[in-house]
Amino acid sequence: MFDTLKKSVAISAINYIPKNSIIGIGSGSTVNFFIKELSFISHSIQGAVPSSSVSEALLKKFNIPIVDLNTLTSLDIYIDSADQINYSMEMIKGGGGALTREKIIASVSKTFLCIVDQSKYVKKFDNFPVPVEVIPISLNSVSREVVKLGGIPEYRKNFITDNGNYIIDMHNLCINNSVFLEKHINNIPGVVSVGLFCIRKADLLLVSYVNKVDKISL
Ligand code: 5RP
Repeated sequence: MFDTLKKSVAISAINYIPKNSIIGIGSGSTVNFFIKELSFISHSIQGAVPSSSVSEALLKKFNIPIVDLNTLTSLDIYIDSADQINYSMEMIKGGGGALTREKIIASVSKTFLCIVDQSKYVKKFDNFPVPVEVIPISLNSVSREVVKLGGIPEYRKNFITDNGNYIIDMHNLCINNSVFLEKHINNIPGVVSVGLFCIRKADLLLVSYVNKVDKISL
């Protein structure tokens, strides 16, 4: 069922793509559906900035031009999914490990369009482990800091990010002051980025249900 819902929200997102634009593209299975839909209207965009090697390969497969973010000052829109998104439009992301590039592209995009199926839209974050990308040498030191925060760190085995780093999944974190926690974790030496997207959160949200897709903005 979730694949059907991912596909339906991906189809809806196509309506939000400005003509002749260069768009930012996230990562993951929902975004893979979106890239496929995008291929049908690829003539109406100039290109895309991908947030992962997987998304880049898929865009290339569909002959959608890849644009280097360093050649741009901003993007009109960034389309990505999330592992969870709460009623304040804050997200936990990075289940696929592409959080750092996702955060960079989101930070220079005028609009962040988040596309999810109904299972990911929650009133409050609901125990989904928060990923953090770390420089390999800092694996243990960052893990100790996670424990001090009340979290349980789990090293993501056999996984190297596109940037050559490791991922620690932080279980059991108490996310009361999400913005403070995002800044605090970002400041731990060795952390490249944390999968809390609460400072730069989503502007627009599409949520798919069996019979409809809801549009939500704050
Ligand atoms: C990847 C992400 C994805 O958006 C998130 O994991 C959701 O993935 P999927 O669409 O496969 O459920 O943050 O880093």
